[in-house]
Amino acid sequence: MKGALGRASTVLATALSLATALPSFEPPQKQPTQQVAIIGAGAAGSSAAYYLQQYAKQHELLGISVNITLFEKTDRIGGRTLTINAYNDPSQPIELGASIFIEKNHILHDALQRFNLSKRIPDEDSDPKLGIWDGDEFVFTINERDSFWWTALKVIYKYGIMAPRRTQKLMEATIANFLKLYEEPNFPFRSLTQRAYELGLIDVTGVTGEQLLKANNIDDRYAHDIIQASTRVNYASNLVRIHGLDTMVSMAPEGAMAVQGGNWQIFYKMAEASGASLLMNSSVASIGFSSETNHYSGNKKYLIRTKSTTSESNGGEDYPVAFDNVIIANPYQFSKISAEEGVIQQTIDEIPYVQLHVTIFASPYQYSPAFFGFTESKDVPGGVLTTLAKSDGPTSGVNGAGKAGFFSITTLRTTTNPTTQMREFIYKIFSPEKVSPEFLSRLFGVEVPDSFTTDPDEESSVSPITWYHPHVFYSYPQALPRVTFQDPIIGPGLYYTSGMDSFISTMETNALMGKNVAALLMDDILKAGKNGCKGAEEMHENTLLDQFRSGPGSSETDIKDL
Ligand SMILES: Cc1cc2nc3c(=O)[nH]c(=O)nc-3n(C[C@H](O)[C@H](O)[C@H](O)COP(=O)(O)OP(=O)(O)OC[C@H]3O[C@@H](n4cnc5c(N)ncnc54)[C@H](O)[C@@H]3O)c2cc1C
Ligand SMILES: *[C@@H]1O[C@H](CO)[C@@H](O)[C@H](O)[C@H]1NC(C)=O
Ligand SMILES: *[C@@H]1O[C@H](CO)[C@@H](O)[C@H](O)[C@H]1NC(C)=O
Ligand SMILES: *[C@@H]1O[C@H](CO)[C@@H](O)[C@H](O)[C@H]1NC(C)=O
Repeated sequence: MKGALGRASTVLATALSLATALPSFEPPQKQPTQQVAIIGAGAAGSSAAYYLQQYAKQHELLGISVNITLFEKTDRIGGRTLTINAYNDPSQPIELGASIFIEKNHILHDALQRFNLSKRIPDEDSDPKLGIWDGDEFVFTINERDSFWWTALKVIYKYGIMAPRRTQKLMEATIANFLKLYEEPNFPFRSLTQRAYELGLIDVTGVTGEQLLKANNIDDRYAHDIIQASTRVNYASNLVRIHGLDTMVSMAPEGAMAVQGGNWQIFYKMAEASGASLLMNSSVASIGFSSETNHYSGNKKYLIRTKSTTSESNGGEDYPVAFDNVIIANPYQFSKISAEEGVIQQTIDEIPYVQLHVTIFASPYQYSPAFFGFTESKDVPGGVLTTLAKSDGPTSGVNGAGKAGFFSITTLRTTTNPTTQMREFIYKIFSPEKVSPEFLSRLFGVEVPDSFTTDPDEESSVSPITWYHPHVFYSYPQALPRVTFQDPIIGPGLYYTSGMDSFISTMETNALMGKNVAALLMDDILKAGKNGCKGAEEMHENTLLDQFRSGPGSSETDIKDL
């Protein structure tokens, strides 16, 4: 005991004298604050900001701090996750973009609790009758008020028991595989392509939904009616034009949820919690090199030129801060960003996106039964998903919409028009083309004027459309089979999140890519910091080790004795 203590004090004394002799033994020098620019405040950019700040906090003791500037060209946070108000009444919010997520979406689900947001069950008040229409007839209908068993029986009666069971198993296995991407050692990932390969996910991204289902012996009719209705409402694509992974994601929305008041709030809260400087109405026009260099990495810093989207006459201005890192968090091909030669070292491929029309409106009318070939209103489901008709080829009609002509029409809810106090319905249509007054006239069996809505002061009879909100999105990529994906590192200190869009485009997956890029960026800061003071650190490690090895009685057992 005594001996051990004695040796311990020798070791301590040696260590102490070393500490005073070597300046590098002090806690690491505080690195200069890393200036990080994030371009785009959608799911990916807000999540990148949030997690980057979290990672920085975890490494505070190493002297690391980040200062984030978030540039957003619109006047709101959320990007493709956005909410509008029926009748412009803030008490009646409706999702215009991304509307649902599931419990297994860990980032979103955790954020609900962390930010004290309330969960909402989507379409709770919608019509419980749901049908799948092929342009000629309803191929399948269910009533959500029916018991689970009754619905199951209907499915089994028409498609057999194996198709739904095999689909469920395949979907669960695929999602379980995907979820490995969240965990070490798979997270973070410098290459999505490589990770997708390692996790066997390119086996599902490399084939069409149709091929995947066939290979798994899933009944053609079930695939055509039920699964295809899902890929059409989720990704505006038929089974021959969408890869297997997105097909499985389309089948996953069991236990769907949304945020009370609007999903965008998750991203608003993330951006807020990140402490980032928010530059709204501020479109990034170009990224170039600054004359400054990063002290540790030796990389040139970046210079960002912005354009205000509100004041008209401006050619843009250089942002006064030079950035050590830049994260491009939006599909580059639509961003209107020009990059100086040499900035983007990994070319960002342009990929085809779906152009989707989302039309939301209010009407006191219900669908005309004649439109769907019925005589009685009670037969018409309020929710209409679609699939291809028997006479359709897989790419028939505009963008594969086929004879039905649209992807879905849902009755979101019954409500009261705040002006007239009349009972009305809120509808949402997903279609490949603009919804026309002629189409709506047929759908409701009543003349819809060219202007869609009529001025309430002038109207003599009931207006068929009382409030109308059309919008067109580049909603997500056309997810054709592929085995390579745009990787997240595109230059020194330059990152890109939208490669995730062609793997799986959802709020969660794009937020995951934001988090991934934040982790990669932090790794790079840590590595650069180590290299920056390499000399001193190596010397101190060696000296200390040598002391332990050769010093009086300082072997491993002795240290345990302490
Ligand atoms: C109609 C529709 C329905 C959907 N349904 C669902 C769903 O139910 N569930 C689900 O999880 N997902 C759904 N999605 C997909 C989901 O919305 C997207 O995958 C996700 O929101 C994309 O996030 P992001 O941050 O990658 O991109 P975006 O949301 O596109 O964000 C990019 C941001 O960058 C900004 N920006 C662009 N260029 C510049 C510039 N030069 N300077 C500054 N800012 C710029 C944009 O204004 C935008 O705010 C749906 C999408 C659509 C369109
Ligand atoms: C952080 O960034 C903001 C906005 O870009 C800038 O005004 C500020 O000076 C920066 N702060 C620090 C500590 O670097
Ligand atoms: C952005 O511009 C809109 C008008 O286009 C304006 O109402 C809003 O206040 C602006 N937001 C900010 C933060 O400058
Ligand atoms: C969380 O939200 C609820 C209602 O939405 C509110 O009553 C409560 O005070 C909030 N809690 C916190 C910690 O903000």
